Amino acid sequence: MIPPVIVPVTYEEIILALSESIKDGNSAVKDLEQKITEYISSKHSIATSSGRTALYTLLKAYGIKSGDEVAMPAYMCSSVSDLLFNMKIKVNFIDIDKDTYNLDTSDLNEKINANTKAVIAVHMFGNPCEMSIINEIAKENGSIVIEDAAQAMGAEYKKEKVGTIGDSGFFSFNRGKPLTSLDGGAIVTNDNNVAQKCRDISNNFSKQSKGNQSKTFFKLVGYTLIQNRNVYRFVHNLARNEKTRCDININNIGTKYTNFQAELASTQLSKLDMFNNIRKNNANLIYYNLQNNKHIKLLNISSHMDPIFLRFPIRVDTSIRYDLMKQLQNNGIETSIVYPVALSKRYNNFSACENAEEVVKETIALPVHPQVTKKDVANMTRVLYDML
Ligand SMILES: Cc1ncc(COP(=O)(O)O)c(C=O)c1O
Repeated sequence: MIPPVIVPVTYEEIILALSESIKDGNSAVKDLEQKITEYISSKHSIATSSGRTALYTLLKAYGIKSGDEVAMPAYMCSSVSDLLFNMKIKVNFIDIDKDTYNLDTSDLNEKINANTKAVIAVHMFGNPCEMSIINEIAKENGSIVIEDAAQAMGAEYKKEKVGTIGDSGFFSFNRGKPLTSLDGGAIVTNDNNVAQKCRDISNNFSKQSKGNQSKTFFKLVGYTLIQNRNVYRFVHNLARNEKTRCDININNIGTKYTNFQAELASTQLSKLDMFNNIRKNNANLIYYNLQNNKHIKLLNISSHMDPIFLRFPIRVDTSIRYDLMKQLQNNGIETSIVYPVALSKRYNNFSACENAEEVVKETIALPVHPQVTKKDVANMTRVLYDML
């Protein structure tokens, strides 16, 4: 059984990262930051203990405070919106384009206003959003643009790596992300002033406890074991029942990234393009195999985008979605809905974001991660074709 997401690290890498972090002391985080700036071509990078910590730090660095408004898409997990609500920031939910799952720029243009201090541009499923248009709308309004590239490390927009096409951006190194160390993240920016403020804020974060660090180590070892498809077959029901990670406790925000995880992330960064190429090849094969199926709506990719496909979302009629997922599961492919509710519906008193509310009912995310082979993709698309 193929898991929907994986942590593509090996036992050897985990052990090596542990021994190197003991040997190198504090230099691992600095080394990783340097490698990220080279990879993204950004001036600065600051490693953080999560994507949410990165966003929190950026919002503080830009002086966005309680009562200010931030615009963000209504289709994604609640990690970002929960953080904003915790910071007492007003959220302006923007609808999405159903074919790209990204911010609908005309809805953004309509809803942005004098109180909107920032736009969070999320590159959903690793597919870049229309950054030139978003930047222009935000600039005209006097807002900044923070790229949420949590799912998109390595993706390109007009031949530039996402992250610093807006004013600043961030990545997540959470489980299942393109680059992972189980938890973690990084801020990227070309603005010296913002970078310095982010460093000052991060320096005040507390070190992770030894207990927490040990937990990370054992969890990594555990995931490496259960994601083996032969093992996953027996544990998938348990794994699927795992509590959603999006629930946020603001107290979890202020910790530092660890050297052990930085060592591991460095290794993963050296393999990121290779992993992303597997994702892209799998996605291309899905396109090829399903392009003529009238019942399946595929992700629309503009020619100036080079997505990395964290997952491959398809849209089908709501009435058959669960049957399709069950049939795929019976054939050894675990899919996911990923986002069961639009954010405009998750909280009270927000006006409808119709596209986001429709997409949550229709989407199935197919796995295309580095463990998925061409044969798996052929199997996946055959099951879909047979049922539709
Ligand atoms: C689009 C997006 N933004 C932000 C986050 C938050 O990242 P983290 O879980 O590392 O805090 C996530 C991940 O879970 C995400 O998918």
